[in-house]
Amino acid sequence: MKKKPNLALVGATGLVGTTMLKVLEERDFPFENLYLMASAKSAGKTVTFKGENYIVEELTEHSFDKPIDIALFSAGGATSEKYAPIAASKGVTVVDNSSAWRMDPKVPLVVPEVNPQDIQWNQGIIANPNCSTIQAVLPLKPLHDKYKIKRVIYSTYQAVSGSGAKGIEDLKQGLAGNDIMKAYSHPIAGNCLPHIDSFLENGYTKEEMKMVNETMKILGDDSIRITATTVRVPIFDCHSESINVELEKPFELEEVKELLASFPGCVVLDDPANNVYPLARQAAGKDEVFVGRIRRDFSVENGLNLWVVADNIRKGAATNAVQIAELLIK
Ligand code: A2P
Repeated sequence: MKKKPNLALVGATGLVGTTMLKVLEERDFPFENLYLMASAKSAGKTVTFKGENYIVEELTEHSFDKPIDIALFSAGGATSEKYAPIAASKGVTVVDNSSAWRMDPKVPLVVPEVNPQDIQWNQGIIANPNCSTIQAVLPLKPLHDKYKIKRVIYSTYQAVSGSGAKGIEDLKQGLAGNDIMKAYSHPIAGNCLPHIDSFLENGYTKEEMKMVNETMKILGDDSIRITATTVRVPIFDCHSESINVELEKPFELEEVKELLASFPGCVVLDDPANNVYPLARQAAGKDEVFVGRIRRDFSVENGLNLWVVADNIRKGAATNAVQIAELLIK
C-alpha cells in the first residue's frame, strides 16, 4: 500500500462520515487525492477539508474506476453490501463501518489495539466492528490473554447518536416535549428502550447478537460464553457498559487495574472515594476507552465487574476506521 494513498469516503455527509473527516484532519492522515461520496441527494454539495473545498459525488458503480487505494464506507448496510465488493474488485481496500460484512469468514474484523494482525488476510474488505463491541474488547483483550475469559455478561446504556441524525432529533424533540418517533418505536426522552436494532427469532436483538458474535471473532476464541442486553438511553453521546467477566484463573484486583491502565487506548478512572469513575459527558469527543468501578464479583469464582465508557461515534466508529487505514499504510 502507498504511504500517501488516494482516499475515498463513502457516506461523507453522514454523522460518522463527517466525524471521519474530523479524525483524518486531526491525525493528519496522509493522502494524495480525496474523493467524497454520498447519495444523489448530496451530489454537488461542497465540503471543506483542511482548508480545501471538495465537491461531494454521487456513489455509483463507476465511482471506483478512478485509482482509489482505500475507501472508508459509512453509508449503511445496503450500500456496503452492494458497493464494497465492486470497490474491492477494482483493487480498492474497503474499511467498512456497516454490519454487512463483519461476520463473513473472509473478512477480518479489526480493532487495531486488539487484533491488528488480522488485517493481513484481508481480501479487499476489512470490517469495523459494532460500536458497543469495540469499547468492550479493549479491556477484555488483556484480561483474556492473562486470565482466560470463561463468560461475559454485557449490559449496555447506549447513546442516541448511535441511531444517526434521527436518534438525535427524537431525543432533542422529546426533551422539548414533542414525542416524535423517527428512530425508535417509543419516545426516548424519559425512557430506557431495551430494543436496539431489530428482534431476532431467538428473542435477542441484532445489536445483542452483534456483541456476542463479534467479541468471539475479534478475540479469536469462540469458546467464550457471552450474553448481552443492549439498552438505548436518553443520552446524546457515548455508550456506557456494565461488563461482568468470569475468568478461568485467579487474579489480584491491583494487577487487573495495572493491566488495564497499561493497555493501549484504555484509561482507568477508578477512585470511588472521590467519586471518580467513567462518565459519558467526560468521554465525549475523546478517542480512549475509559474503565472504572473495577471490582470483584463475589457471587462466582474469579468474577470481575467493570464500567466501560467511550464515544461511540469516535472510537466506536470513525476513529477505529481511520486507525485501520493507518495500519494499512504503515
Ligand atoms: P446522503 O447525505 O446523501 O443521504 P447517517 O448515518 O448519518 O444517516 O449518514 C448516512 C450516510 O450515508 C450519508 O452520507 C448518506 O448520504 C449516505 N448514503 C445513504 N444512502 C446512500 C446510498 N444509497 N448511496 C450513497 N450514499 C448513501
